[in-house]
Amino acid sequence: MDKKFYSVISMMSGTSMDGCDACLVRLSDNFEYKIDGFYSLEYPQDVRKKLLDIAVGNGNTADICFLNFVVGKHFAKCANLLLEKYNLKKEKIDFISSHGQTVYHIPQEKEIGGYRTKSTLQIGDISVIAGNTGITTIGDFRPRDMAAGGQGAPLVPFADEKIFGKDKNRAIQNIGGIANVTVLSKDIPTFAFDNSVGNMLIDYFSHKFFGKNYDKDGLLAKQGKVDEEWLDELMKDEYYALVPPKTTGREHFNDKYAENILKTAPENKYDIIRTVTELTAKAIYKSYEDFVFPKTSIDEVVIGGGGAYNPVLMQALQKYFGQIPVKTHDDYGICSQHKECLAFAILGLCTLLKKTNNLPECTGAAKAVVMGKIAY
Ligand SMILES: Nc1ncnc2c1ncn2[C@@H]1O[C@H](COP(=O)(O)OP(=O)(O)O)[C@@H](O)[C@H]1O
Ligand SMILES: [Mg+2]
Repeated sequence: MDKKFYSVISMMSGTSMDGCDACLVRLSDNFEYKIDGFYSLEYPQDVRKKLLDIAVGNGNTADICFLNFVVGKHFAKCANLLLEKYNLKKEKIDFISSHGQTVYHIPQEKEIGGYRTKSTLQIGDISVIAGNTGITTIGDFRPRDMAAGGQGAPLVPFADEKIFGKDKNRAIQNIGGIANVTVLSKDIPTFAFDNSVGNMLIDYFSHKFFGKNYDKDGLLAKQGKVDEEWLDELMKDEYYALVPPKTTGREHFNDKYAENILKTAPENKYDIIRTVTELTAKAIYKSYEDFVFPKTSIDEVVIGGGGAYNPVLMQALQKYFGQIPVKTHDDYGICSQHKECLAFAILGLCTLLKKTNNLPECTGAAKAVVMGKIAY
């Protein structure tokens, strides 16, 4: 049978809450892919601020109701601008796949009125995206995995298997707001976990001390030095010692957390940025020492997400990993910033074709299910 190809716009915004990344992908039904374009659209400052508030419980139901539509409109705008950039008509696109914006994730069961359940909420309503682009939109993946007993995360490992295969033992290390790894090894089933804080602390302190949303090209960190004593203390955070499977997010590594660690921080603002950059690299490496290397050897680490563009972070990682090459997705022809979009294109195509798209060994679900919903 002939392969069928689909043109997909896939969109994602992660825990950094920096904005929408969109990717234009040609995807075959056996997951061969070609990335034909990308576009990123930052959230307006006031939208980002409101999202950050909601993510730590400082918002009311009206805010969440409103933001669900606002984020939907923002994603739709991002898709429309991508079409404009490449001079494409919407009729050329088979479907949009959207992860949406996580605003809350409760992976442990809670109980009320005799009902016990985990829960998760991604906003950016898919009907709003479909309505504002005129393109069929697939999204809201996580709840179906949770309904099968999983944590609704991590979802990207399913796509990592399709993208990289298992010809080598690879660690696919994403560094967004949070850092998470997929371990693809010939020797063991694929496993994945959130290993550390990612860019979140760097972003927070860059904003607080220098009025910048992030430390572009590590320019701030380059002007500081690592405060070893503070670093040691930061490494004692309870999350790093937890044995996987484990996930984390803004519920733990949030602004309050950042303010709290400031109490024992060095005075020099550049040293603070440099030290939390080192922390991200060190905590990632330690998670391999504790939880990956005892199970499998690793031939190479492939970094993705915005953290790949921070040279101070990348150099620190290569220092810790020593002989193991630290590459980026760009080395594989995939723009690091848009890698997660590619993953959601793959997940979305599965939804369309009614193929299962979770990895129960990674999410803890009782079985493989078809995640995602469709708005026409
Ligand atoms: N040129 C750059 N220099 C340093 N850091 C960068 C650069 N580009 C992106 N980043 C970092 O990456 C983050 C966004 O990464 P992303 O993968 O979009 O995270 P998320 O998935 O959490 O949204 C930014 O907040 C910033 O910390
Ligand atoms: Mg982002």
